Amino acid sequence: MQNKIEQLRKMAEDFRPENPDAVEKFRISFLGKKGHLASLFSEFKEIPNEQKKIIGQEINDLKNYVTSKIKEFKVQFDNNINTNSVSDLTVPGKTESSGSRHPISIVRNQIIDIFTRLGFNISTGPEIEDDWHVFSALNFPPEHPARDMQDTFFIEKDPDILLRTHTSSVQVRVMEKNQPPIRTISPGRVFRNEAISARAHCIFHQIEGLYIDENVSFSDLKQTLLYFAKSMFGEETDIRLRPSFFPFTEPSAEMDISCKICGGKGCKVCKHTGWLEILGCGMVDPNVLSFSDIDPDQYTGFAFGMGIERITMLKYEIKDLRLYFENDARFLEQFSSAF
Ligand code: DAH
Repeated sequence: MQNKIEQLRKMAEDFRPENPDAVEKFRISFLGKKGHLASLFSEFKEIPNEQKKIIGQEINDLKNYVTSKIKEFKVQFDNNINTNSVSDLTVPGKTESSGSRHPISIVRNQIIDIFTRLGFNISTGPEIEDDWHVFSALNFPPEHPARDMQDTFFIEKDPDILLRTHTSSVQVRVMEKNQPPIRTISPGRVFRNEAISARAHCIFHQIEGLYIDENVSFSDLKQTLLYFAKSMFGEETDIRLRPSFFPFTEPSAEMDISCKICGGKGCKVCKHTGWLEILGCGMVDPNVLSFSDIDPDQYTGFAFGMGIERITMLKYEIKDLRLYFENDARFLEQFSSAF
């Protein structure tokens, strides 16, 4: 019987089908009701008990071998792979369309690359957060409108569990676990209860930056952001900082870049101002440092936060936010990147 098994195995090994019909015939001859394996199994009943273990194993191996071979041939024929050893070498090659990265990922990776060159590391935090990390530890007064039901998706009340509305929450998580020097950027998804339109979405992406050490000053912030703007949008890019307010920074500012479309002369995109707003920033409020047990008398820091969709829109002149989420291949195929 072992001879027979060996012969059948050899037969299976030598089998080279020319078409799917041959594979099917092969399958029936081995695995069919009256096939080789069925007859082996019926012969198997007759053999002495002490041989059953070894021979049973051999029959099973043969069965597995034949099954996987059939599968392989089927895949080959399905994919139209020529199994003959003589191929037509003049047949034109098949071009495989390769995927492309989503523009949001491309720009996120570019931003990460710029800041890691400056020595920033990357940190992440949970998307489902508590009130402390999103608001309280960032110096939001209890009645601050950003806590309003309109902006925040709450998951549970008392204690409040919610979807983070900004990646500033990761600042808090980093400060809780580390003492300065801290130099980190935190990319991630954020959620706001907003009606979806060309200019707003309920899910979007931000990158938060945080730098805390002794003697960190506003001019460090300005220089870092200038370097970022030039690396991202080109050497000729200028920046300007306008005074603003955020609960977690004092002083706070919003940063504009010179409009890269009109070169600052004024156009539709920059609403004829020559400037485009791209991020919020400021010096970390001493309260925020204290809340996370960092001594505000010894350390100072700066922070900034930007929306990746916004930066991507400016970089690629994309006019409608919804395109990012529709997964239309005609849109996505236009982007390629080494990142
Ligand atoms: N968290 C702010 C927002 O979502 C952005 C921001 C502004 C972050 C100023 C900062 C900052 O770190 O300093 O609108």
